[in-house]
Amino acid sequence: MHSDTFELGIDALRARRTNKWHKFPDDVLPAWVADMDFGVAAPVLEAMHRLVRAQEFGYAARAGVLEAAFVRRMASRFGWQTQAEDAHPVGDLVQASFASVMAFSDPGDGVVLQLPSYPPFQDAINATGRRLLDNHMRDTGTRWQLDLDAYDAAPDPRARVLIFCHPQNPTGRCFTRDELQAVAAFAIRHDLIVVSDEIHADIVYAGGTHIPLASLGPDIAARTITITSATKSFNIPALRCAVLHFGAPALRERFFARLPARLLGAPGVTGVDATVAAWDNGQPWFEEALIRLQANRDWLARTLPQALPGVRMRTPEATYLAWLDCTKLDLPLPAGQFFLDRARVGLNAGEAFGARYSAFTRLNFATTPAILEQVVGRMSDALRHR
Ligand SMILES: Cc1ncc(COP(=O)(O)O)c(C=O)c1O
Repeated sequence: MHSDTFELGIDALRARRTNKWHKFPDDVLPAWVADMDFGVAAPVLEAMHRLVRAQEFGYAARAGVLEAAFVRRMASRFGWQTQAEDAHPVGDLVQASFASVMAFSDPGDGVVLQLPSYPPFQDAINATGRRLLDNHMRDTGTRWQLDLDAYDAAPDPRARVLIFCHPQNPTGRCFTRDELQAVAAFAIRHDLIVVSDEIHADIVYAGGTHIPLASLGPDIAARTITITSATKSFNIPALRCAVLHFGAPALRERFFARLPARLLGAPGVTGVDATVAAWDNGQPWFEEALIRLQANRDWLARTLPQALPGVRMRTPEATYLAWLDCTKLDLPLPAGQFFLDRARVGLNAGEAFGARYSAFTRLNFATTPAILEQVVGRMSDALRHR
């Protein structure tokens, strides 16, 4: 089933005008930015064809359509009951995280962020004149864990917001209910508004369950803005469509008192229709994608110890991203640069996720087994011949 959308060859991938396949020269195999070397679900394609067939590009009549689809999806997928009035369509999650930081803090205020972190969250703090209160996660030897105690030991009196990434990019952690309860207690204890980025929520492997932070209870919901979209799971990030959900009406009021809705803009009709089609009718496609992602993840976990000796990976519980710790290798260059120069593989530079992570690199394994083997093979050769 669906083999045409999951088994694209390198020529077809390179022929796509995507950033993933065009950032680096043609002799580099890209395994960086978080989209998938797959196609899309048939219902998503049909939604796009329908717009094209009807040449339907006038101002769209879609009031409430995305919000209603969000409510259905959160209920069916996560058992989370939400109200359409609390959801607001936006163009993308990075925009939503910037907007939330600006709405719930002032210049000079502190924003707590777990590191290593998806780089634009650091931008949302630094570019808006807020102060980054870095809260580093810890590698316990088996997995990456939050270290809330480290922040508790030296809290900042002007901390206003916590940007929380769940599942976590780049460590691939899917936090447990106990961990989430600790995060909720932490936010309440320090009186923080939480921006909970749950864009990777669907991509959780066997044994894990995604629990929306705001679903834990009314106390945490009242201070949580959840941001999510169908773009990661359904491979449609260029369509720019996301949802910002306020856990209580008072949060919504505070947000729009600071930022007029018209300033945020709105997703385009392609994004809305693709998202609704994906959420309502794309699940069979997604389930097949997830099986393939899990097979790649398992292959990596089995193969890396021999192929990349000294490189440490804590098997991701979620996301299609592998966070590779190359500290033990003592590489002559930052890890991302080393593999770009010597292996001709385009990974994400660890230092973008936090200055102290230059000996780390992030590998995107959402590709075909053949390409993944080539990526790891090239990295392996580079290490052997260094
Ligand atoms: C955690 C996280 N948030 C947000 C995004 C980007 O979302 P958007 O394209 O909607 O800005 C990504 C993309 O990789 C991500 O990993």
